[in-house]
Amino acid sequence: MGRKKTHLKIAVNTGGGDAPGLNAVIRAVTLAATQRGWDVYGIKKGYNGLLMEEDGLMHLTPSKVRGITHLGGTILGTVNKNSPFEYLTPEGQLTDVSDVVLKKFKEHNFDCLIAIGGDGSLKLANRFYKMGMPVIGVPKTIDNDLESTIITFGFDTAVTTATDAIDKLHSTAESHSRVMVVELMGRYAGWITLNSGISGTADVVLIPEIPFSMEKVCEKIMERERSGGGFSIVVVAEGAKPAGGEMMTIGEKEAGREVRLGGIGEWVTQEIQKRTGKECRSLVLGHLQRGGQPTTFDRLLGLRFGTAAVRALEEGHTGIMVALDPPTVKYVPLEEAVSKMKLVPLNCDTILTARDLGVCLGD
Ligand code: F6P
Repeated sequence: MGRKKTHLKIAVNTGGGDAPGLNAVIRAVTLAATQRGWDVYGIKKGYNGLLMEEDGLMHLTPSKVRGITHLGGTILGTVNKNSPFEYLTPEGQLTDVSDVVLKKFKEHNFDCLIAIGGDGSLKLANRFYKMGMPVIGVPKTIDNDLESTIITFGFDTAVTTATDAIDKLHSTAESHSRVMVVELMGRYAGWITLNSGISGTADVVLIPEIPFSMEKVCEKIMERERSGGGFSIVVVAEGAKPAGGEMMTIGEKEAGREVRLGGIGEWVTQEIQKRTGKECRSLVLGHLQRGGQPTTFDRLLGLRFGTAAVRALEEGHTGIMVALDPPTVKYVPLEEAVSKMKLVPLNCDTILTARDLGVCLGD
């Protein structure tokens, strides 16, 4: 019988859109692993570091990760395009370089990859796992759209930023008696928009899960007008769409990356102005939602997830994702974790809360 290996060499990478809390996870993985006498290397820019001739890896030591817990972004860099399975070469050719990535991973004698990512990056990690790379996933995304975990880190910070923006729009909307429309991120899920819209006391909240009617939206705005409100705040998820319509996208879909969503906020703004005669302004909050310092909640969750990933490996698990299941962090099969998107359930209490508060959900 072979003896269990005790000195492990592990890799960690960050993939997909950045999210506040990534650096907290990197620090947690590094400290928990080095405490066990293991070696930790960061792969720069998703998997690209493994394809680079030189300087693609960062040796992560306690001193290297000192003072980064509260910093937004990722010290490793990240990419949400050019998946190794659909890789665009400098010559402009689309090719599958996943076997090269796996070969390099093995040449470096890594025992496991801790892959910090959202839906897209964890799907890639799962494909590598099936090809023979030991992988542990850590769920990251401001969109909160991963089914197997109660919450992903990054989400709380994004909601806090969005709520803050909605709060600030109130005074200018009221002063000018205008309708202010703000478009928020979240991809196909309405979590950021719903949570920040209700907390920021928006009058209309439009999410992808509930196709909306412009008549209902304008009815709500005119009802506020009649009751002396004079101004309204409308929050729209980038993936929201009118009943019978399509999600709005920006540009053409590129190979190896998700299509970009956007434009619905401005469309809703024009429609409201046309139908009600009210003066309207729109804003896209955009990447501000991904930036800045993580909230205390996201820092702690990142630290909990990072150390849990190291414990999972020590216990002999791979092919899993760590997931929050209060009061603990559990392990779920990676395959299961990436199999379903977590959308807002229409009967959840937050939706009921919105309805009982008189918020218009566009239906
Ligand atoms: O998945 C995170 C996210 O911020 C989405 O909410 C948004 O649709 C997308 O990434 C934006 O990606 P990019 O950084 O490529 O504009």
